[in-house]
Amino acid sequence: MKLDRPKIIVTGGAGFIGSHTVVALVENGFEPIIIDDFSNASHSVLDGLYKIIGRQIKCYEMNCCRAEQLEDILQKEGDIKGIIHFAAFKSVSESQQYPLKYYENNVLSLGSVLRVMNKLNIKHLVFSSSCTVYGEPDQVPVTESSSIKEAASVYGYTKQIGERMIGDTINASKGLQAVILRYFNPIGAHPSAHIGELPNGVPENLVPYITQTAIGLRKQLTVFGGDYPTPDGTAIRDYIHVMDLAMAHVKALDWLKRNDERQGIFNIGTGKGTSVMELLSSFERINQVKVNYQIGPRRPGDIEQIYAQCDKSNNVMDWEAHFTIEEALRDAWNWEKKFRESN
Ligand code: UD1
Repeated sequence: MKLDRPKIIVTGGAGFIGSHTVVALVENGFEPIIIDDFSNASHSVLDGLYKIIGRQIKCYEMNCCRAEQLEDILQKEGDIKGIIHFAAFKSVSESQQYPLKYYENNVLSLGSVLRVMNKLNIKHLVFSSSCTVYGEPDQVPVTESSSIKEAASVYGYTKQIGERMIGDTINASKGLQAVILRYFNPIGAHPSAHIGELPNGVPENLVPYITQTAIGLRKQLTVFGGDYPTPDGTAIRDYIHVMDLAMAHVKALDWLKRNDERQGIFNIGTGKGTSVMELLSSFERINQVKVNYQIGPRRPGDIEQIYAQCDKSNNVMDWEAHFTIEEALRDAWNWEKKFRESN
């Protein structure tokens, strides 16, 4: 079969955001090729993708820190139009416990991707960054020019390093261009419930903890902190449906194609702050299910509130979030139910 769809390498393409982005890429005329070492992803994701897309997506099982192996694969593939680099560890608490694991994997893998891009003359990179680079912001909403504070975790620092590595490499290279996407809090699942968020072990993030409590896998959710200076005392975040986030990667590739600028940095959120208690109530209301919870102490390293100003991604990249929080919570719940029924 002759392919006229632009080939895009998706490192970490079997992960939560990566797999949803693979779907968005296919729906928008691209040919994604996954590279994933499955250290934090299940092979069953590939079956889910097959059910949604209706055909197999090519997947290489490897760790992209291995620059030589990565180069071999990309060379063999040929004609790669761009790389979306998701592959990274993302647990804040684990990063504090095992800093070297995070420095090695997150920094080395980006280094290896950039090295191979330079060598093979691949021009377009989209990088997964995080709102964690803003630290505890002085003001909300944060814009892309809000100050970058000292990172509160090793994980956050690896994202700051990544952004800097990309800037420095671009300055020293001929034609490399990159989009850095600063994700806020991705939640939800594909509306088909064939793919979704599949944390290893006890979830650290709020929504998987809620869905696993609602289904009976966890006894009780602890709301971390009820004494923040917010209207209901709980912390505020900007929760965004993972399919909206996935679509931002398609828009980023489009922007890179039509633009001469070497680098674009964009916030990817909804612009709306939601507290933990608001999110929990919405989940219970939309899904007609009760979640057993208690208010506990604050979690170390958590900030009081952060949400995005997304004017730049709306105006410059022509991207905006369409799904509501309720839709994201419905999809997250449908995914949890379907996954537990079949596993
Ligand atoms: C963190 C990181 C973010 C990263 C994301 C992915 C920071 C500031 N943010 O987001 O960069 O991309 O993880 O792993 O480092 N909560 C509870 N009970 C729970 C779990 C969470 O109350 O059992 C609360 C948290 O205190 C927080 C909110 O829910 O207020 C969201 O937490 P979580 O889903 O873990 O995401 P962040 O910590 O915001």
